[in-house]
Amino acid sequence: MTKKQTQLSLLMQWYKTYGRHSLPWRHTRDPYAIYVSEAMLQQTQVDRVIPFYAAWLKTFPTWAALARAKTDTLIRAWAGLGYNRRALYLRESARRVEANGAPKSLEDWRALPGMGPYASAAVYGFTKQKFVPAIDTNVRRVIGRIFLGIPYPLPSDDDRILQCVTTSPIKQEIEDSRYLSRHLTSALMDFGSLICTAKHPLCSTCPLRDVCRAKKSIQDHPTHDAPRTTHAPKERRHASKTHPDRIYRGRILALVREKNKIEIKKIGKLVDSTFDLKKDSAWMNHLVQRLVTEGFLKQKKSFVTLSND
Ligand code: ADE
Repeated sequence: MTKKQTQLSLLMQWYKTYGRHSLPWRHTRDPYAIYVSEAMLQQTQVDRVIPFYAAWLKTFPTWAALARAKTDTLIRAWAGLGYNRRALYLRESARRVEANGAPKSLEDWRALPGMGPYASAAVYGFTKQKFVPAIDTNVRRVIGRIFLGIPYPLPSDDDRILQCVTTSPIKQEIEDSRYLSRHLTSALMDFGSLICTAKHPLCSTCPLRDVCRAKKSIQDHPTHDAPRTTHAPKERRHASKTHPDRIYRGRILALVREKNKIEIKKIGKLVDSTFDLKKDSAWMNHLVQRLVTEGFLKQKKSFVTLSND
């Protein structure tokens, strides 16, 4: 008699053959390196992260090396990843780990700066090499579809999703197999980004098509019926500008990185093609001042440089 093919067993068969096993952070057990990968993967695409990850670990191979890093080195190493605040959070975490010891529990990871419920669960699970539910958009979508039959799961479905994988029989199935427990999160992530995608899920050739609870409703309600995904909280923006402030902040940092030192009043025109000296100077000065207050830049008279604290 052949063993019953469950959603999980089919998923893991798929993962063995098609999973992204070469991703570099899947070949380390070093909590620091795993933590760096998750910090980079928040809001930046996998392919883009790979070269930055290798370079970062070369420059800052340990918590101790990162804890000692000067802000300017940090900003230069982070250049290209966006959301520069994450680099400062990483160093702050490294300083706390150096002072208090390595995180041991899920709660310890969660307490580090910049770590939300997803990232802390992911890092904890990967370091322990066991399944700890970490719900990102891919994981939410795959679990929500295959087990719960929700064609387009939303963050508001997370309680049900969590409940589903932490109660038997699914919990039991995960615990019964070391391979499953160790690789399930990676398998869910890969399956969600390669097969069970948000817009064009490959249902007709999906290896789980006979056991997926959402297949029929996805067919009946193709993507154009999908509820719009909720966006991150509203970003701060100038009423008459095209982009949120975040974009101009990134451009200011990139400019200072390139020039080393620049006069504040020259920045506006170089980071905003529609910059109007009269109308926009107060806004631009405010953006620069925030970067100074947050520790990215240092002001010397009317000039700024990257901070070397
Ligand atoms: N492996 C570990 N974390 C990951 C992530 N956030 N995205 C893709 N692959 C990962």
